Amino acid sequence: MEVSHRVVILRQKRVKNQEEKLAKVSYLLEGNPFENMGRWNEAFSNRNDIYLEIGCGKGKFIISHAKEEQDKNFIAIEGQQGVLLRALEKLEEERKENDLKNLIFIDKYIEDIRDMFKENEIAGIYLNFSDPWPKSRHAKRRLTHSRFLEGYESILKRGGFIEFKTDNPILWDFSVDELEGSPFKIIEKTEDLHKSVFSSRNFTTEYEDKYRLLYKKIYYLKAVKE
Ligand SMILES: C[S@@+](CC[C@H](N)C(=O)[O-])C[C@H]1O[C@@H](n2cnc3c(N)ncnc32)[C@H](O)[C@@H]1O
Repeated sequence: MEVSHRVVILRQKRVKNQEEKLAKVSYLLEGNPFENMGRWNEAFSNRNDIYLEIGCGKGKFIISHAKEEQDKNFIAIEGQQGVLLRALEKLEEERKENDLKNLIFIDKYIEDIRDMFKENEIAGIYLNFSDPWPKSRHAKRRLTHSRFLEGYESILKRGGFIEFKTDNPILWDFSVDELEGSPFKIIEKTEDLHKSVFSSRNFTTEYEDKYRLLYKKIYYLKAVKE
């Protein structure tokens, strides 16, 4: 596990003056997420449901959700600091107009989600354009691999969901297979999200916007823990 992390970190692109820029917005980060395990509602000072995005990139999707659904709490996790910096800067800008106290960012790579959240603590998980890891020998790193699904099942409440979007047909087929072999039940599924009935309530991500300009089809599914 350690090795795969190191490989990913080495590939990170650095932003100019990244450390100084990060220091300025680090007050928006949850410093020690592991300590909040089982107590995330205290971190938000309310009892509202909590939703996670893993691999939030530059944060457009989760900031839109948090603005639109202020009666819900959101936690966005991103391992690449240079990318997360953009999300934090966006949040800082948004905060000039909106409180957005319902959104917390975490700068970590998830290996086992159960390190941060207790059983039944989470109401929904968003996986948007997760890294496809196309080589089959890297399949275990895909965020929809059964080893990750086991963790999601544990932290999700009954009725909790995973929503998954990708442009990548190989990751799509793999993810559908993994979910079909898991305790989750797929309740929504389309191979062309933007032409489907689900598009009207869809919040787009940065990657999605880019792919739409290229007329790429977006695969989407929602699976629930029964
Ligand atoms: C292809 S990008 C998509 C970003 C964003 N969701 C979007 O759709 O615009 C995938 C992101 O997931 C992050 N990521 C991949 N594995 C992760 C993990 N295990 N924990 C946290 N972030 C992860 C990567 O650093 C990258 O920024």
